[in-house]
Amino acid sequence: MALQGASLISSTLRIPKENKPIALKETTLFGVAVPTTFRAEFNPSFAGNKKEKSGLSVRPIRAQTAITTPSINQASSEEKKTLRKGNVIITGASSGLGLATAKALAETGKWNVIMACRNFLKAEKAAKAVGIPKENYTVMHLDLASLESVRQFVDTFRHSGMPLDVLVCNAAVYLPTAKEPTFTAEGFELSVGTNHLGHFLLSRLLLDDLTKSEYPQRRLIIVGSITGNTNTLAGNVPPKANLGDLRGLAGGLNGLGSSSMIDGGEFDGAKAYKDSKVCNMLTMQEFHKRYHEETGITFASLYPGCIAETGLFREHIPLFRILFPPFQKYITKGYVSEEEAGKRLAKVVSDPTLSKSGVYWSWNKNSSSFENQLSKEASDKEKARKLWEVSEKLVGLA
Ligand SMILES: NC(=O)c1ccc[n+]([C@@H]2O[C@H](COP(=O)([O-])OP(=O)(O)OC[C@H]3O[C@@H](n4cnc5c(N)ncnc54)[C@H](OP(=O)(O)O)[C@@H]3O)[C@@H](O)[C@H]2O)c1
Repeated sequence: MALQGASLISSTLRIPKENKPIALKETTLFGVAVPTTFRAEFNPSFAGNKKEKSGLSVRPIRAQTAITTPSINQASSEEKKTLRKGNVIITGASSGLGLATAKALAETGKWNVIMACRNFLKAEKAAKAVGIPKENYTVMHLDLASLESVRQFVDTFRHSGMPLDVLVCNAAVYLPTAKEPTFTAEGFELSVGTNHLGHFLLSRLLLDDLTKSEYPQRRLIIVGSITGNTNTLAGNVPPKANLGDLRGLAGGLNGLGSSSMIDGGEFDGAKAYKDSKVCNMLTMQEFHKRYHEETGITFASLYPGCIAETGLFREHIPLFRILFPPFQKYITKGYVSEEEAGKRLAKVVSDPTLSKSGVYWSWNKNSSSFENQLSKEASDKEKARKLWEVSEKLVGLA
C-alpha cells in the first residue's frame, strides 16, 4: 500500500527542473478530490528439534523453567508444551518493520530473534536503540544481494546449534528513482535479486531446518504488499506489477543477453519492486502447495499497512519523503506506525489464531486481521509453478 502511494505520488508529482514549478495532477493525492474508492485502496479498513547440534553457539538457549508460549497474545494449550524460547530469523531487522517486529517478539521474553542483516553494526546499534533485551537477540550477517552470502548465513546459523522455528523474509530494497538497473553479486537486477531470489534461496535452504524443528507452530512468512496486487485501485497506479511470461527472469535478469525486468520490458525501478512483491506472494503459495501438508509448516504472507516513514523510501526524492507520511495519515488514513506494523507481523509469527497456511493477511481499521484476496496474477498457480522452477535454476538449486 505504501508503495501504491509511493507510485501514485511519483506518477503525479513532478520535481521542478530548472526552477520550473511543481506540477501536481488533480487526481487524488494533494488535490481536493480523493474518491472513497481511492481511500479504500490505501486503507484496507475501508475494504472489506531438532536436537541441538554441536558447534559454536552464538548465544546459549536457556531452557525455561516456567511454561512458555510463543504467542504475543493468548497461549494455546498446545503451545504450553514447549519449554524453550522460539527461534525466529528476521531478515532486514536493522530498521523499519523488521526491527519493530524483532522488538515486539523479543520483549515477550519468549522469542530469541536472529536479526539477519547486511550491516552488522547498524543492526546491533538499532537493537540497542530500541531497547531489545540483550539476551533475546542475536545479529548474524546476511546480504541477500549475494547468493554466496545467503549460503554462508545458513552455514553460520546451523553452526550456532539453534533450532529454527520461524523464518520471516522481510528485507527489501525499493529503487523508484533509478534510471539504470543495478545488480546483485550474481548479476540479477537488484530489487528482484534481493527481494525475491535471495529470499527464495534462503527459504529453500532453511526449509529443512524448519521441518526438523519440534516447535508446536513452525512458520515461514514472506512479507508481501498490496503494491503487487492489481485487484486494488492503488495496485493499478502505474507502473503496474506484471511478470508477463517471465522471459526476462528466465534469461537471467542481467540486462545483457536479457532484460533486467521479469517480463522482458524496459527497466523501471518502481515496477521491479512491485514485481518482486508479486514473486514473494506467489512463492509463499507455491511453498504452501508443495510443503504444507507434508511438513505441517504454516506458509503465510501479509500486507502490514502503509508504514510511510520506514527506510524503504530512502531512495525516493526528498519531497516525496516529506509529503508521503502526512498524505497517508490525513488523506488516505492508511498510515500505520512502525510499532503497530511490527505488532501485526509479530502476530503472524506467533499468534495461534493466525496459523492458517497459504494466507495473505491484512488488517482493517480496528487493527483486526483478515484473509485478503490476492490479484489474479499474484494467485496464478501456473505462474507460481513456473516462477519456482525458473528461480531454482537461477539460484543453483536445479
Ligand atoms: N514501508 C511500507 O509501507 C511497506 C508496505 C508494504 C510492505 N512493506 C514491506 O515491508 C518490508 C520491510 O520494509 P520496510 O518498510 O521496513 O523498509 P526498511 O526500513 O528499508 O527495511 C528494509 C530492510 O531490508 C534490509 N535490506 C536491504 N537490502 C538488503 C540486503 N541485500 N541484504 C539484507 N538485508 C537487506 C535493510 O537493511 P539496511 O538497514 O542495512 O539498509 C533493512 O533492514 C519489505 O518487504 C517491504 O516490501 C513495507
